[in-house]
Amino acid sequence: MNIILLGPPGAGKGTQASRLQEERGMVQLSTGDMLRAAVKDGTPVGLQAKAVMEAGELVSDEIVSGIIGEALDKLPAETGVIFDGYPRTAAQAESLDDILTGRGRKLDHVIELAVDEDALVERITGRFTCEKCGAGYHDTFKQPKVAGTCDQCGSTEFKRRPDDNEETVRTRMAEYRAKTAPILPIYEARGLLQRVDGMADIDVVNTSIEAILDAK
Ligand code: AP5
Ligand code: MG
Ligand code: ZN
Repeated sequence: MNIILLGPPGAGKGTQASRLQEERGMVQLSTGDMLRAAVKDGTPVGLQAKAVMEAGELVSDEIVSGIIGEALDKLPAETGVIFDGYPRTAAQAESLDDILTGRGRKLDHVIELAVDEDALVERITGRFTCEKCGAGYHDTFKQPKVAGTCDQCGSTEFKRRPDDNEETVRTRMAEYRAKTAPILPIYEARGLLQRVDGMADIDVVNTSIEAILDAK
């Protein structure tokens, strides 16, 4: 099964993708995570992407579709994939069709996480992750069980993203509205789109997504 999680910055794509990865043995392919890794490693892609990401704008379609194709080539054909943060433009949606077809895969579901924009700034500015294992947390909504210690790996080092400030979040939302939201009707017309209330609790959102994946 191959699915897309679509939604604005802070909608919960990463949170839900990592839950599905744990529960279903699917693999999360997050272009944001892959680009951040490239920036950290100083690769040619990272060098091109760094300033664009820090401004909250979109990296080029060629770069992101390229890294998605490469990532898929490393996975066994039977492994299900969760696309998190890709596609984000009509051109990327078209590329994804070709990328999947070329590898004998098909798209099963596109799930939109619907959220109030007002909540997103709070979600994003409160977000932090474990430096060591990448587990995601939030100052208000998802604190580690023992303060200052990662639930997953016990590390006491955490980090925040450089693009998680209010000004950049506004730019990221504007990019979503202008370039990403217009691809929703494309998937709707193909009968692939389902909407989930992304304002519910993390567990409730997870249950709603599982129900979609389990439905015949
Ligand atoms: P990317 O990393 O994809 O960022 P984004 O789309 O802005 O989304 P986020 O990761 O901020 O949010 P999320 O939906 O994953 O939310 P999360 O689960 O963390 O992209 C970053 C940049 O890379 C882009 O700006 C662009 O420059 C570039 N890029 C990436 N892909 C690209 C592409 N395809 N094309 C071009 N450029 C690309 O949740 C947020 C917080 O809220 C967390 O703290 C979480 O604990 C909390 N939370 C989650 N769900 C809930 C809930 N239900 N209730 C309460 N709190 C919740
Ligand atoms: Mg994310
Ligand atoms: Zn950790």
